[in-house]
Amino acid sequence: MVSHLRLAILILFVVQLAIAKRLSLLDTLRSTGKPHGNSTTWAVLVAGSNMYGNYRHQADVCHAYQVLKKGGLKDKNIIVFMYDDIAYDPYNPRPGVIINSPKGPDVYAGVPKDYTGANLTTANFYAVLLGNATAVKGGSGKVVASKPNDKIFVYYSDHGAAGMLGMPNSPYIIADEFIQVLKEKHASGTYDEMVIYLDSCESGSIFEGLLPDDMNIYVTTASNATEDSLATYCPESNPPPPPGFGTCLGDLYSVSWLEDSDKNDLRNETLEQQYLKVKKRTRNTDYNEGSHVMQYGTLWISNETVSVYQGSTTKHSPVDLSPSFDSMGVVNQRDADLYSMRQRYKKSTGTQQQKDELLKKIKEITAHRAHLDSSVNIIKQNLLGNGDGPVRAQGSALVDDWGCLKFMIRTYETYCGTLTQYGMKHTRTFANICNNGVTERAMDEATKEACSTHKMGKWNPAIVGYSV
Ligand SMILES: *[C@@H]1O[C@H](CO)[C@@H](O)[C@H](O)[C@H]1NC(C)=O
Ligand SMILES: *[C@@H]1O[C@H](CO)[C@@H](O)[C@H](O)[C@H]1NC(C)=O
Ligand SMILES: *[C@@H]1O[C@H](CO)[C@@H](O)[C@H](O)[C@H]1NC(C)=O
Ligand SMILES: *[C@@H]1O[C@H](CO)[C@@H](O)[C@H](O)[C@H]1NC(C)=O
Ligand SMILES: *[C@@H]1O[C@H](CO)[C@@H](O)[C@H](O)[C@H]1NC(C)=O
Ligand SMILES: *[C@@H]1O[C@H](CO)[C@@H](O)[C@H](O)[C@H]1NC(C)=O
Repeated sequence: MVSHLRLAILILFVVQLAIAKRLSLLDTLRSTGKPHGNSTTWAVLVAGSNMYGNYRHQADVCHAYQVLKKGGLKDKNIIVFMYDDIAYDPYNPRPGVIINSPKGPDVYAGVPKDYTGANLTTANFYAVLLGNATAVKGGSGKVVASKPNDKIFVYYSDHGAAGMLGMPNSPYIIADEFIQVLKEKHASGTYDEMVIYLDSCESGSIFEGLLPDDMNIYVTTASNATEDSLATYCPESNPPPPPGFGTCLGDLYSVSWLEDSDKNDLRNETLEQQYLKVKKRTRNTDYNEGSHVMQYGTLWISNETVSVYQGSTTKHSPVDLSPSFDSMGVVNQRDADLYSMRQRYKKSTGTQQQKDELLKKIKEITAHRAHLDSSVNIIKQNLLGNGDGPVRAQGSALVDDWGCLKFMIRTYETYCGTLTQYGMKHTRTFANICNNGVTERAMDEATKEACSTHKMGKWNPAIVGYSV
């Protein structure tokens, strides 16, 4: 009898202990917002451009770092790709400081300089994602050394085009190669789930018809496969940057998620909720002044909280530093750098010689852009006639024969000069030429003819490299 009682008390004690332990474990999970078990969250942040006229891409990426850092991710798990030529650019009115909204704080301080300048390459981006340290050239050598339980957050901001994302050093990121890298990462079994936020023109085209939905990768993009994305906080638009900036401070989709993450308790917000809020803000007053935020891949991942990927903090800034406007003034991503140069020319207080040099640069860039647009048009007319060629069904990949697309781009650049981040916008035309079954020989002849008298000057791919 006595021993039965003892046993009963013992059982009661064990059960109580188990319940207590469970509760405290749940409390811990709640309070840190960390995923279950041994999971580490990794992040790869990429600004794909350089130069002061593209200030906003590095500002977005620095801001993203601050969100993750505040959320509790560790520097050893955050890998940053940024050219790092903005903070001390002579045009920056606040040397050593980068801001991402008109009244926003410095977002530059503390950002790890993992892959900067010449080390910011597509090959390093792929090697870092794959966790292959021996394939990395230069930089900090940090890679995503993730384990099967880990989560990965990837964020990229820059210019893009159908099937392509810019990089400050050529070659650029091509959709089929990027998707191949993601497939390899998946096959290596070194992550649980991955979330990718992508801000660029035609960003949907990187994934549409290409990303399988069974790789535990969830993606949102700034725009659909066929439209441009937008820069914001631009001079002479509303809200403008502080006086003296002469450049856009952010991109509409990017500041939408970043400012949302700054303001909210991310343990209480799902990726789906963030997607919907960002979609609404990026739409802007109407789609003429905005773009369609899209989602791709393993969609059920969006039922997870944002904190799983971005961390979380209970400390939110006491004052709301981001202006909340119902409609945001915007500038097309592709025009924003030239827009910035014109602004600086207009407001310049420099010597006449400095002004003349800036004007000369603006004229050169404008002339090269006009040449790109007209020569591509001549080639298209020659090969496809007046139409655009075949239009593919919505949801299908840009092109099936990526080798053909790359051949076409290289051929074009050989005779006509480098496409630059602006001229990338013509990759859809090249894709259509491929989809129409035009032979390599016909492409070669049409391109040679279109640019036979053109002098490439500094836009010779032999000097600046090929885009692919
Ligand atoms: C967590 O990881 C450590 C070391 O990798 C391992 O020893 C431990 O068993 C793991 N715990 C769980 C709950 O997976
Ligand atoms: C890592 O990269 C090196 C060099 O490119 C390559 O030889 C090696 O096979 C790669 N390792 C893995 C595990 O893929
Ligand atoms: C590239 O990386 C190497 C090795 O870390 C470093 O010495 C070099 O300064 C880096 N170059 C640039 C331009 O950042
Ligand atoms: C993509 O955006 C363009 C331009 O705003 C629009 O005309 C088109 O309907 C959109 N397509 C999808 C699938 O959202
Ligand atoms: C969590 O979010 C819901 C709705 O999104 C809101 O009503 C609630 O107050 C939030 N809770 C906390 C603790 O922030
Ligand atoms: C999300 O949905 C998946 C699939 O329906 C489910 O297995 C998972 O438990 C859900 N996660 C959360 C956090 O609700």
